[in-house]
Amino acid sequence: MTLIDATKTPAWAKLGQLAASFEPDLPGWFAADPARAERFGLQAGDLFVDLSKNLLTDEVFQALVELGYQVGLPARRDEMYAGAEINVTEHRSVLHTALRRPAGDALLVAGVDVVAEVQQALGRIYAFAERVRSGDWLGVSGKPVKTVVNIGIGGSDLGPVMVYEALKHYVSPGLECRFISNIDPTDLAQKTSDLDPQTTLFIVVSKTFSTLETLTNARLARDWLLDGLAERGLPGGEAAVAKHFAAVSTALDKVAAFGIDPANVFGFWDWVGGRYSVDSAVGTILAIAIGQSNFADFLAGFRRIDEHFAAQPIERNVPALLGLLNIWYRNFLKAPTHAVLPYAQSLHRFAAYLQQLTMESNGKSVRLDGTPVTSDTGEVFWGEPGTNGQHAFYQLIHQGTSLIPADFIAFANPAYPLQDGETDVHELFLSNFFAQTKALAFGKTAEQVRAEGTPEEIVAARVFKGNRPTTSIMAPALTPGVVGQLIALYEHITFTQGVVWGIDSFDQWGVELGKQLAGQIAPAVAGDQAALAGQDSSTKSLVSYYLANRLRQ
Ligand code: F6P
Repeated sequence: MTLIDATKTPAWAKLGQLAASFEPDLPGWFAADPARAERFGLQAGDLFVDLSKNLLTDEVFQALVELGYQVGLPARRDEMYAGAEINVTEHRSVLHTALRRPAGDALLVAGVDVVAEVQQALGRIYAFAERVRSGDWLGVSGKPVKTVVNIGIGGSDLGPVMVYEALKHYVSPGLECRFISNIDPTDLAQKTSDLDPQTTLFIVVSKTFSTLETLTNARLARDWLLDGLAERGLPGGEAAVAKHFAAVSTALDKVAAFGIDPANVFGFWDWVGGRYSVDSAVGTILAIAIGQSNFADFLAGFRRIDEHFAAQPIERNVPALLGLLNIWYRNFLKAPTHAVLPYAQSLHRFAAYLQQLTMESNGKSVRLDGTPVTSDTGEVFWGEPGTNGQHAFYQLIHQGTSLIPADFIAFANPAYPLQDGETDVHELFLSNFFAQTKALAFGKTAEQVRAEGTPEEIVAARVFKGNRPTTSIMAPALTPGVVGQLIALYEHITFTQGVVWGIDSFDQWGVELGKQLAGQIAPAVAGDQAALAGQDSSTKSLVSYYLANRLRQ
């Protein structure tokens, strides 16, 4: 692979020139071109994507497309799909797209048909999920499972919890899922406090099976289970753990050492990054919650976008174009953040999920060859569901001094159609979605404000400058397939940006130092004076505060 420096390409130079004299004029552009929405409207799978309210002229669009070609995006995408070791610092292939290839679509990597392995693993997951769902899987006292608790963190938590919340309306009645991630003991204590150990199944999810938070919580959960059973005079020990614990990992030896029955362990592969793993065995809790057929639809959704990303030329390739647009905003118009605003309460964990996907992937300062990056990289992703965000931070998006590109996501059909008298509440909700992007694009002039009879002294405060860029993404409904499509869309957007920046979007060394130091500081926190003495003065002062104020029961 030749590493291309995007900043040395003709397209980058062209974009620089365009940015230098750029005068955004969405109202003018729409007035001059009645076909603008049609020209910048695209379809990928079930997703209708309206780019027209972005700060895009034909020249910018063309230069972005050229940039995609000049950095070799199609070839890099093909390398990823084929299993090349594009995760160079970990010497790994990056094959989350293989997780959703159909059975029989063989993909040989180092002589192994990875698709056949995926299908075999899926067969085991579906069989286990069906046993739990049907009530055939019994706890140690002979009762079926009512609550499944996922113990994992980062990619072993955010994807499953986000999708569970998104698809709650597909979850079988009588079954509930909970998610414990934080090592703060509050998380486990609160989420188990009202559960009956006899009807609770824990799934410990950890790619490495060495993550401090997850292993600590797994041990606490095991104690909680065994203590709870003992209080009820029920048998504990290995038999109870075998009936109430399953695991998902790539490190099967470590799972065995923890004592989870190998029959309840679901594996995956080092070529699946944690933040790209919700469609692997990491999604076992989802297969239980929504069932095999819905989970298969979820995977098929990813596949539709994978196929689109693989087949479409950049000028019609939705993930590629959205990734390139993000480059325009980040590198040329200097936008430090990007908002994602779903008009769907069920997507209330979507931004949190995307934060790991985008920021753990593209928050990098060195390139694939170890040299410093040649431009800014990863922007901050953030968001909340509309309309809640409207009553909180939209003020800053409308009238603040930073440029904040935003993705607005909405669905034609609600999960729960409700009427407020004569009013269809979903219609009211969607009116807000349509109105917000319109207000952001077109704004409101001082003349318009004055014409409403506004006193002159507050006219300026009520002016909206407009030209605040948004992408609108719509789909028929929030189905398993559409959730899969949305995730794959953002995975490939993230990939596109990483290719332009020439970085490894699949490692995460930046999370290691803090983990290492926590291990070194732990003895000081436990009161070891020698360990405390070796710390810097700030850490010493903070740990000393803790030691002085900790009340022990
Ligand atoms: O520390 C970051 C990280 O490695 C993430 O990349 C990962 O998703 C998370 O920790 C959890 O890791 P594991 O699944 O190995 O427990």
